[in-house]
Amino acid sequence: MIGSANGTRIGITGLGVHVPDRVVTNDDLAQYVETSDQWIVERTGIRERRMASADEALTDVALPAARAALADAGVPAADIDLLICATVTPDMMFPTSSALMADELGMPQAAAYDLLAGCTGFMYAIAQAYAMLAAGLSRRSLVVGGDVLSKILDWDDRSTLVLFGDGAGAVVMEPVARGGFLGFELGADGGGGVHLQYPGSGSRTFESPESMLKMNGREVFKFATRVMVSSAEAVLAECGKTIDDVDVYVPHQANKRIIDYAVGKLGVPQEQTVVNVDRYGNTSSGSIPLALADARADGRLRDGALVLMTGMGAGLTWGSALMEWTGAPASGRIT
Ligand code: ACO
Repeated sequence: MIGSANGTRIGITGLGVHVPDRVVTNDDLAQYVETSDQWIVERTGIRERRMASADEALTDVALPAARAALADAGVPAADIDLLICATVTPDMMFPTSSALMADELGMPQAAAYDLLAGCTGFMYAIAQAYAMLAAGLSRRSLVVGGDVLSKILDWDDRSTLVLFGDGAGAVVMEPVARGGFLGFELGADGGGGVHLQYPGSGSRTFESPESMLKMNGREVFKFATRVMVSSAEAVLAECGKTIDDVDVYVPHQANKRIIDYAVGKLGVPQEQTVVNVDRYGNTSSGSIPLALADARADGRLRDGALVLMTGMGAGLTWGSALMEWTGAPASGRIT
């Protein structure tokens, strides 16, 4: 699916993130599986990640991010009429984490649903919110992306254990006077789905040996390097832009090598690329908003900056969005 914005300008007017307190280093993980800090840093760029405690579920990590996004936008929770939560690790299948959070935050007018698109979830969710807002069905939306993948990892499997971390981010989306989203490209390839699975998680099978995340890392690596480039190029072409127009590149934080490959192929200067995989690992649907928050904190997300975001993950899925950062809510908001 590909399309450029036509008509209503929709932007991000609030951004908030949250990660669990517990820092888990590579050396910590070496107590569980045969691995080393050197191997993990060389192959992935990851030095540490955050992990939820035994009694923390997704909404415990995501709610502080949601509250921070609302405060950042200066928007009362009750004004939100759509809450989409992108996650593959909801508190439970139902009630949905989005409905639980809408209730907890105080959003009686909000439609709320969870969205499953692997690590691409946040990209799919902002595209959906964009469409609901542009169509006038929603007036103000909250999009949450987050995962606590530590809960579904196989702690005996070194090929996956070292890659993931827990975290969440949230954005308020609404009509803006200038800037905003320019276009989206989203895709899926269920034929490659077998390379990144959580097989015991649905109606197909409930047997316990199958109930952990499983990944064919090499196949996912090949897929990731391909779609990180093709999706970004497609959305740029759709919006009549080139990579030279991009001010800030926000790639999914799965592996530094994948990011380096995409940066090299696309021709984005390193200083325009946001990298925090070293501190958080792969936080799945939390990855893009956590990276956006870092880019804002270091001053790169200035008003009017052209931002290219690309996610990829289980499905297999991928998605890109191109937007002009709107800047301070007061200057960009319409109402
Ligand atoms: N420590 C030490 N050795 C390890 C570890 C580890 N943690 N993990 C694997 N190895 C070993 C392997 O067993 C293998 O040994 P062998 O040669 O004796 O068989 C060797 O290291 C090399 O393994 P490779 O798989 O070839 O290593 P590679 O360089 O491909 O790196 C990695 C593996 C990091 C998993 C890489 O393939 C990758 O990043 N793939 C993409 C993963 C990804 O992005 N997933 C997220 C998708 S998003 C989502 O939706 C969740």
